[in-house]
Amino acid sequence: MDKFIIKGGRRLEGEVTISGAKNAVVAIIPAVILADGPCILENIPDISDVSISLRILYEMGAIVENLGGGVYRIDATPIKEPVVPYELARHMRASYYFLGTLLGKFHRARVAMPGGCYLGDRPIDQHLKAFTALGADCRLENGMIDISADMLIGSQIYFDKISVGATINAILAAVRATGLTVIENAAKEPHIVDLANFLNSMGADIMGAGTDVIKIRGVRQLKGTSYAIIPDQIEAGTYMVAAAATKGNVLIKNVIPKHLESITAKLAKIGVNVEEFDDSVRISVDGPLVKTSVKTQPHPGFPTDMQPQFSTLLCLAEGTSIVTEEIFNNRFRYVDELRRMGADISVEGRVAVIEGVGKLYGAPVTAPDLRAGAALVIAGLAAAGVTEIDDIYHIERGYENIEQKLRALGADIEKRTVPGTAVRKDPAAM
Ligand code: EPU
Repeated sequence: MDKFIIKGGRRLEGEVTISGAKNAVVAIIPAVILADGPCILENIPDISDVSISLRILYEMGAIVENLGGGVYRIDATPIKEPVVPYELARHMRASYYFLGTLLGKFHRARVAMPGGCYLGDRPIDQHLKAFTALGADCRLENGMIDISADMLIGSQIYFDKISVGATINAILAAVRATGLTVIENAAKEPHIVDLANFLNSMGADIMGAGTDVIKIRGVRQLKGTSYAIIPDQIEAGTYMVAAAATKGNVLIKNVIPKHLESITAKLAKIGVNVEEFDDSVRISVDGPLVKTSVKTQPHPGFPTDMQPQFSTLLCLAEGTSIVTEEIFNNRFRYVDELRRMGADISVEGRVAVIEGVGKLYGAPVTAPDLRAGAALVIAGLAAAGVTEIDDIYHIERGYENIEQKLRALGADIEKRTVPGTAVRKDPAAM
């Protein structure tokens, strides 16, 4: 099992380039199945969620070629059997996007229940509601989700709860259905817009992505395309917080500043300088960090995927901060780990009260999930002394070359394989 060893206390300085967005790419890779020809995807991050998604396609019969430099050519036309077995699906939450895409292409899908980081309850009732509205019959049997439809017919889908995954699955299933589908109360995250842009470049007719009403006029066929994935807003936000926590000065390149607005606004409240340029942001700190309140919300609100990183930063700020988690009902599992490092945080249900302690101290800790793991890296970078982070496979699902990128910014971080622990636990992903 690999771990990170971080000697903390160094300011991060220099430039870092952000990779393609994980939560866009894990939807776009399965969406290639909908094309009746090969697709070229650019700006694909080298993260384990991507390897798993590509592996699923490959095992199903697709031709997957790595052209180098984050560019892949994928021909999914040889896929004949719309089945993703447990052994493949269990590794990744986003494997449920194969449901929408296989249903859209073959009118049938059989996919094992997805794995997933434990962030609290993660039902898929809204996904199934969308498939049912389009005319599909959904069954759950022996851990497999079985979906079939004689015909997919455009429909009105109203989500009872805003869901990124259900919105994406509804788009994937509706894009080749007959007639018009209207999705109401849709999620508005940048990766939903990215997926819609990708599908439109294949010949789909999707309007309104990025608003809460998405209209999809079904088309008979989709062609192969060439498409570059957007930069990862959460990776960018994580480096923004890491720079702030170490009182550094970092230029974060290859970002879309508009996607970072809620993160930028909160950093400014905490006393961090954020300068915006066309496709980069500079983070610097020249005064004290101060308390604030954070409440996670669906986009364009403050992202839940930045909540653990901000809680860590607020440990280093003056005063008492309140962090409220509105999306998931158990996303504070990292708090015990931060306490080992000297944090003063109490959690009641979905609310954390953080007393600023000014300084954290290195300790052995364990990453409970992807973003919590990133938060512990930030804590280690800012802390006095040595932090050892276990279970870093969580972090490697979503952050390309994190230790190289941080080392280039001056961090003292090293990845170490602990002998005799090469077998890792089930890497259920986000
Ligand atoms: N929900 C339902 N029913 C459903 C679907 C969702 O009740 O059918 C609830 C969930 O339990 C949760 C809320 O709705 O309380 C929002 O869940 P959502 O469906 O939006 O989340 P997701 O699709 O499972 C994606 C990201 C997560 C990110 C959330 C929220 C991917 C692969 N995962 O998850 O990313 O936290 O949206 O923005 O896109 C991460 O990258 O670290 C990560 C966890």
